[in-house]
Amino acid sequence: MMPADAKATPPPVHIAGRDRFQAAAPRVADLPGPRPWPVVGNTLQLRRGAAHATMETWARRYGPLFRLRFGPYRAVGVAEPGIIDQLLRHRPVEVSRSPRIAKVINETGFAGVFTAEGEAWRRQRRLVMRALTPEIIRTFFPVIGTVTERLQARWRAQTGRGERPDVLRDLKCYSIDVTTWLTMGLDIDTLRQETSSLQADVETWFQTVGRRLPQIVPYWHVLRLPADRRSDAAIARLHATVDELIAGARREMAQQPQLRQSPRNILQALVAARDEPGSEFTDQDVHGNVGVMLFAGEDTTANTMAWLLYHLAGEAAARVTARAQVDAVLGGHLPADLSQLEGLDYIEAAAIESMRLKPIAPVQGMRANVDLDLAGLLVPRDHLLFLLPRVCATQESRFPEAERFLPQRWLRDDDGTETNDRRSMFPFGGGQRYCPGRYLAMVEIKMVTAMVLAGFDLRVNERAEPRVDPVSENFGFTMAPGALPLHFSLRS
Ligand code: HEM
Repeated sequence: MMPADAKATPPPVHIAGRDRFQAAAPRVADLPGPRPWPVVGNTLQLRRGAAHATMETWARRYGPLFRLRFGPYRAVGVAEPGIIDQLLRHRPVEVSRSPRIAKVINETGFAGVFTAEGEAWRRQRRLVMRALTPEIIRTFFPVIGTVTERLQARWRAQTGRGERPDVLRDLKCYSIDVTTWLTMGLDIDTLRQETSSLQADVETWFQTVGRRLPQIVPYWHVLRLPADRRSDAAIARLHATVDELIAGARREMAQQPQLRQSPRNILQALVAARDEPGSEFTDQDVHGNVGVMLFAGEDTTANTMAWLLYHLAGEAAARVTARAQVDAVLGGHLPADLSQLEGLDYIEAAAIESMRLKPIAPVQGMRANVDLDLAGLLVPRDHLLFLLPRVCATQESRFPEAERFLPQRWLRDDDGTETNDRRSMFPFGGGQRYCPGRYLAMVEIKMVTAMVLAGFDLRVNERAEPRVDPVSENFGFTMAPGALPLHFSLRS
């Protein structure tokens, strides 16, 4: 008969690498890794705003699985694509997001699908998925067209007056306007306001989360620094805005009860789900997920668009090819429908290539919920796992001339085959929690890029077209470009 304690310990869940990859050691303690300092471990070795770069350097130095410690927490850095892929797929049961992310975000009062786990996550995810399908995006295409026209008009007016657009700020307003209109039915038009409190508050929210995530001790529980007081004020305004949005939806649904059966957007769908008899949705679920929609669609898409414009500005050959396609497909107009956008396969390839080099999520924090066997390495439950997808996506063996921006890698050959290693990239995550907004994001990215190439001459400020990358990467919760040296002028 089996001893009782043997029955109680299930075998570790096996996770294989690619190409017969084997871990360098059987136990985490035996892995190579940066030397931890007493008490704090490796925490203070991460540069502020550049934690991703330090971790990526460690992955290159110590190998695809390396040991880390943050205060009392043991962790493994992971830069092997097969293992990253499998870890993402083993969610939500054997692996989950790092609970620290959930704690920091939920403390701001915006608990939603991004931080939920288990059955609560499944329920919320179903609703969010229903609201972001390609069919919905097709129906709302005119909305995206209108916001793109506003951005075009703003940049035309500014460049016409010899002014330099604040590209990143405007792209953030653009994304927030599109997402809010599409997911909540509201045209908030932050783009045409000279200063938008909503956009600035969302920005502060991101900064707050990015600043608090790496702290070992949650000092803000006992001490409010000036930055925390600014955060409190911004977050209070965000809650008031979300409350207003929900109250507006409730008024509309009271006047048009049929919206309960056929909600027109995710806000109405959330309210309807909340009000169903015996519903498991709470008012907090509705509130939190409205916030998630505001945040998830903003920084991610805006930063991705900014990086793409930066790459196109710096690479003349890619820019010329992209513009030739825009001219051929659109003939000087903005895309009129989704089928026209589908013709812009070079722009799509450029977006994927840009995300390969500048993913907005270069580090993804996870936790092992059970013992895991990572290609021969035993990772005990409760260990943290830091996935570093860009290390895989910039390996010369997987992507020749890996440091160069070469959109053509993502175009299909004449016989329809792809010559790239798509499985080594995770710009939108993976498994059941992959980004539900990726289709919307690609539509926004293609619209804005087509608009810029059709109407503006774009270059990096300097005369030269640098291959080297002088723009800093600011990593908080997402990875944003630092000061963007972009120059726009009306197309000559
Ligand atoms: C280029 C733009 C975008 C990028 C690169 C991006 C990237 C990501 C990534 C890496 C994740 C984590 C996925 C995972 O854990 O496997 C994620 C999750 C998520 N994204 Fe996006 N995203 C973008 C745009 C959007 C948009 C426009 C929306 C919605 C309006 C959105 C909504 C979400 C939500 C709700 C989640 C959480 C999903 C879950 O936990 O089940 N994202 N995104």
